[in-house]
Formats: sequence, structure tokens, C-alpha cells
Amino acid sequence: MALSGGRPAPTHVIAHLSDPHLLGSPQGRLAGRIDTAEQLRRALARLESSAEAVDALVISGDLADSGEPAAYELLLEIVRPVVDRLGCALVLTGGNHDERGPLAQVLFGVDGDDPQDRITTVRGLRIITLDSAVPGYHHGGLSDDQYAWLARELAAPAEHGTILVIHHAPITYRSPVMQLLDFDDVDRLREALVGTDVRAVLSGHLHVTSFGQLGQIPVIVAGGVSYVDDVGAPRLLLMGVDGPQSWNLVEVHANEVVATVVPVSQHETWPALSDAVIDYMSTVPPQDQREVFSRKRT
Ligand SMILES: [Fe+2]
Ligand SMILES: [Fe+2]
Repeated sequence: MALSGGRPAPTHVIAHLSDPHLLGSPQGRLAGRIDTAEQLRRALARLESSAEAVDALVISGDLADSGEPAAYELLLEIVRPVVDRLGCALVLTGGNHDERGPLAQVLFGVDGDDPQDRITTVRGLRIITLDSAVPGYHHGGLSDDQYAWLARELAAPAEHGTILVIHHAPITYRSPVMQLLDFDDVDRLREALVGTDVRAVLSGHLHVTSFGQLGQIPVIVAGGVSYVDDVGAPRLLLMGVDGPQSWNLVEVHANEVVATVVPVSQHETWPALSDAVIDYMSTVPPQDQREVFSRKRT
């Protein structure tokens, strides 16, 4: 008998990381202080220690800080062994700090500057990436061609629905400065998704963990794995801090999508629930486990 917890397991699990901002030079430090490659390695180490089964590793843009080919090569060097060990799909999309040409060439073996919008289907769950970078700018949006492609793809539903991955979060963020760099036409995207099977939008760009909604669809923003915007600072002050970086473990259930924030840094722990308790609880019939475990002891 196993300790069931009483709830069905998720149908799909997604590790959602964002904004690694990798540099072309391994010795380089972002803002003179952050080893972005090491931050990504630490985030992935936490992923491997925290999740038993992951269907997809999603990294939602600003993969590179300045779009150098070497940064994308470094990304693959860091990520591929993890993806191989986990046996999961790798889902990557660009952001405003990326450059489409090098990204397309190194990550997808494609020449040119077209957005690399792609579909990855994992056991019936469709994950669609949309490159929301607007060439030459830091704000985001989608072209008419991208909207048309999205409409064609969403015309038929997927077995377990669809997750969209878009770097620029289509929600209203608190910072007036970041609002100048946000998703350009949220109303159009909202209307494009009405009546589709899209269940959640996974985004980044804000460098904070945040949640909002696009119509009835939840928007889940992963905090950056490289650095974080200081939300304790006044609204007009856009100030990066070296911590608390995080990513989101997104669990897809039949009727809900649940995101759990996973800090990149490991903190001091105290003794966990002992194996003896787990072993004992595993002998209790599932229908009695809540009564035995939840009841307060005097
Ligand atoms: Fe970023
Ligand atoms: Fe960004």
C-alpha cells in the first residue's frame, strides 16, 4: 500500500524556467556580478532533486542576454544532459534579449530571422511557443502572421488542451517602467484565445513570480533564474537583485493547472518527516489516512 494523499496525480508536469540571460563568455558576469550559467545549473539541479517525472522543460525566453551564438551553445551544453536524464521534452522560446538569427541557427538549425514558433505535444498535452519579441525593441507582441498561424493551430483541440508559452506576460504588471516594455496588444491575444482549448499561458520577462489572467485563462509568470526585480523597491525604481531566483513547477490536472514556486537557492533545512512515519502511513488504508494524519494530537 502506498501513501496516496487522496488526490489523483497530475496528468502532466512542466518545469517552467525563464530568463536565464546567458552570456557569450563563460567568464562574464551579468551586471558585473551574476554568473548566469551557474544560476541555470543550480535551477536545474533543484529540478532534478525535486521532481520525479517531468514531461517538459520549458524556458520562456531571454535565453541569452545579448543574443550571441555562444550563449545559445552554452544553453544547450547545460540543458541537454538534464533533458536526457529526465527523458523530457525541451521547449524553448525567445524573448526581447534574444536575437532571432543566432537563436534559430543554434537551437533549431534554421537560417533566417523568422520567429521559431513551435508545437510540442506530450502525451496529448499541446505546448505552443510564440516568440513575442518585436525586432529592434524590448516590448513584446505578435505579428499578423503569428496570430493567423495560432488560429489555424488552435482550430482543433488537443486531447489534454494547450499550454501557451509567451515571453512577454500578457498581464498588467505594477511597474510603470516595465509597462513600457510589456505585451503590446493584450486585447487581441485575449480575443484570439476565446473558445480555444488553451488552459494556461506561461510567461517570463518580469523577473518576478506573478500571476494574472487573460480572460478566463490563467497567466503564470516564472521569476527569473538569473536575477529578480526588487518588488520591495518603489514602483518607479526598476532594480535587479541577486536573489530570490526561482522557477515554477507546473502540474496539469484534469480540471486545473497548479504552479508551485521553487527557489533556486537551497536553504537550511530541519529534519524531514521520518521514514518511519511514511512507512507507517503507507500501512494505513487510503480512506483512513486523512483521519490518522490530520487529527491534532493533544
Ligand atoms: Fe529577462
Ligand atoms: Fe524580457
